[in-house]
Amino acid sequence: MINVALFGFGRIGQMHGENIFKHPKFKLKYVYDRDPRLSKKSESNLKAKSIKDYNIALKDKNIDVIFIASSTPTHINFIREAAAHKKTIFCEKPLDLDLNKIVSCKKYIKKFSPRIQIGFNRRYDPGHYYLKKSIDQKKIGQLQKIIITCRDPAPPPLAYLKTAGGIFKDMIIHDFDLIRFYLKNDPIKEVFATTSDLSEYATLFKKVNDYELATVVLKSKKGVLCTINNARHSSYGHDQRVEVFGTKGMLISNNKRESEVELSNSQGTNTKKKLLNFFIERYQEAYYLQLHDLADLATKKKQPRANFDDGHQALVLAVAAAKSLKLKKIIKI
Ligand SMILES: NC(=O)c1ccc[n+]([C@@H]2O[C@H](COP(=O)([O-])OP(=O)(O)OC[C@H]3O[C@@H](n4cnc5c(N)ncnc54)[C@H](O)[C@@H]3O)[C@@H](O)[C@H]2O)c1
Repeated sequence: MINVALFGFGRIGQMHGENIFKHPKFKLKYVYDRDPRLSKKSESNLKAKSIKDYNIALKDKNIDVIFIASSTPTHINFIREAAAHKKTIFCEKPLDLDLNKIVSCKKYIKKFSPRIQIGFNRRYDPGHYYLKKSIDQKKIGQLQKIIITCRDPAPPPLAYLKTAGGIFKDMIIHDFDLIRFYLKNDPIKEVFATTSDLSEYATLFKKVNDYELATVVLKSKKGVLCTINNARHSSYGHDQRVEVFGTKGMLISNNKRESEVELSNSQGTNTKKKLLNFFIERYQEAYYLQLHDLADLATKKKQPRANFDDGHQALVLAVAAAKSLKLKKIIKI
């Protein structure tokens, strides 16, 4: 059994806790959250021990994995400490909001040869991953365009937005990463971003210097054109579509629904069920599948699909997008 200590028991931490609890290779030993009322919940639900000091987990020689699902500003320090204690690390995206902190962390942890997986769960979505394999197998010939649509059903709470880092570093970071995953050895060279606020949500986003709608256009070294099309709300559910276009065809990884059954009657034809509501439902399978890589990382040192450097490079693109918006021009990477 691989013993895990989970740091952060909020929205995503609770979901990860349940997955770790269900996974046959893991034992969820400790849960730590700044708010002990939250971590306490894990004792009855997940048979874990709620701790008030995370050092208990770091110092416990039987703990193999530190699983970081706490708020973004906590990630880098937990990584530093977990690496120094020779633990395998899983860290949610984004690594941090500040590139300098990431670079200095990278330098510091190098001596510990750390094993780190980043929570870019979309790499594990069966549909999105099928596209990756198909691109690599040249099923659509030469890759020419990547088009990602990502619309959340509703904005996160204000308390979350305050520390999340804005639409590029918090939300679109997933799309930057997916594009890098598909492009493989063809790096992004140009980034242009624009945003808009058109609805009643504008007041909420203005409070945290953030935006309701964003579009980012990127160009790779070989000339692949990528478009990311995002909204912080969508009245019809979590809209998640990826299209890749090449010289010999096109592939789409589509939305997921409560059911694929279609109804035709006097009111309409081919009526389908709604889209799954949000990330926890839409990427349920992906969140679980990424744990298999974590188990292999902890036991066999096998590299996961997303590592520390992927976390770093995705933030480079997010920072460039924010700069492009500010300067109203294309940013060269
Ligand atoms: N991969 C994904 O799809 C995905 C989805 C949502 C969130 N996330 C990421 O996961 C992280 C958490 O997001 P969330 O939505 O669960 O937020 P959240 O606000 O619901 O939960 C964060 C939790 O961290 C705890 N916390 C804050 N500081 C702490 C500290 N110093 N020590 C221990 N616990 C601390 C808070 O008490 C809270 O319970 C963020 O970095 C976010 O970007 C990833």
